[in-house]
Amino acid sequence: MPRPDKHDPAAIGFATQAVHLGNAVDAGSGAVRSPLVMANSYALPEDPSTMGWSNTEHPIYTRNGGKNQRDLEYKLAALEQGEEAVVFATGVAALHAVFFAHLRSGDHVVVSDVTYEAVWRLFSELLVDRYGITATFVDTSDLQAVRSAITRQTRLLHTETIANPTTKVADITALSGIAREAGILLTVDSTFTPPPFYRPLRHGADIVIHSLTKYINGHGDAMGGVVIGSSDLLRPVRSDALVDVGGVVSPFNAWLISRGSITLPLRLRQQFSSAQRVAEYLAGHPDVAFVFYPGLETHPQYELAKRQFGGSGNGGVLAFALEGDSRRQNDFVNHLGVITSAVSLGHDESLIVHVGPDGRGGSENYPEPFREYGHLRLSVGLEEPDDLIADIDHAIRESGDGAGRT
Ligand SMILES: Cc1ncc(COP(=O)(O)O)c(C=O)c1O
Repeated sequence: MPRPDKHDPAAIGFATQAVHLGNAVDAGSGAVRSPLVMANSYALPEDPSTMGWSNTEHPIYTRNGGKNQRDLEYKLAALEQGEEAVVFATGVAALHAVFFAHLRSGDHVVVSDVTYEAVWRLFSELLVDRYGITATFVDTSDLQAVRSAITRQTRLLHTETIANPTTKVADITALSGIAREAGILLTVDSTFTPPPFYRPLRHGADIVIHSLTKYINGHGDAMGGVVIGSSDLLRPVRSDALVDVGGVVSPFNAWLISRGSITLPLRLRQQFSSAQRVAEYLAGHPDVAFVFYPGLETHPQYELAKRQFGGSGNGGVLAFALEGDSRRQNDFVNHLGVITSAVSLGHDESLIVHVGPDGRGGSENYPEPFREYGHLRLSVGLEEPDDLIADIDHAIRESGDGAGRT
């Protein structure tokens, strides 16, 4: 057997890639970790007089791309098996960069009717009012509805693999077939399903976006976003959206995200398996009104999730509610001791958010029980699953009628 080269993505497996890609012995100091380079500017060549200041080929200025950003881009492109990656300050900056780079006034997009709230707002209000881009929101699990929504002006179809917060699963292979036929781009927010768990590009997506703030960093201490796809499609994302709009990630956050992503495969395995256990526990509890998790047979896309994700898990986020009104849901959350009430997801610690029945843009498209009860979005972390279940069990008992309400 030849000696595997730890810097050659083609020669090593995912866990080895996650440890070694984008990291090398530092030539200056001999340190075995790539250093954090906190510099805005890079030394110019002897004759810089003809250099374009917006050029992204040579390191000039950190807004165009510095050492830590480039290391992270190299690593993320390899992990997702895409040709190129561009990193941004947040997931929303990355999403906006795709739309900014690939849409023009008068264009139309087809968007999943359940997405992260900022995407909902971009396509229901901001890009519509300011740039004359129109959007049709469709239930992406209804493929005929997706086909029917496409017009001659449609340029792009956008979905999340597992939707935030309802956990609706999109059939990426089927949607990519529709996009191909119509000659439009399929852009997929895969924040809930990072590699190696799922890779939308391998199933026909044109562009993948992640909020790095979530699973890929995984430690709740740095924000970032990434766009991954072919170099052709990423050219305007880098040259127009990154350089000229400027939502660049800081070198420190890029460095933290590179470090956080080392343990990505281990964390995903643990979090997805704990989420399955917690979902099954909740589904069997008489005080629970509903649970949406793609690993439960009751989930509307259970079969699709099994086929698409190959039985390797169903994500780490679930949505549920207890029998009772908003006060009951709050009371429950306020009795939790291990799980923290805070926004975000994919962190090492478990996080829960209570959202009322009509608390969000686009919530009129949520499944019926979400509109009746509101929902609790739980991102399962790395704690012992037994501790999480004990915490939930205790808080259910302490909340609601007849219990030790404080
Ligand atoms: C699916 C999804 N996409 C994008 C984002 C936005 O990411 P960020 O908060 O890093 O801007 C989020 C944030 O919750 C998300 O859940």
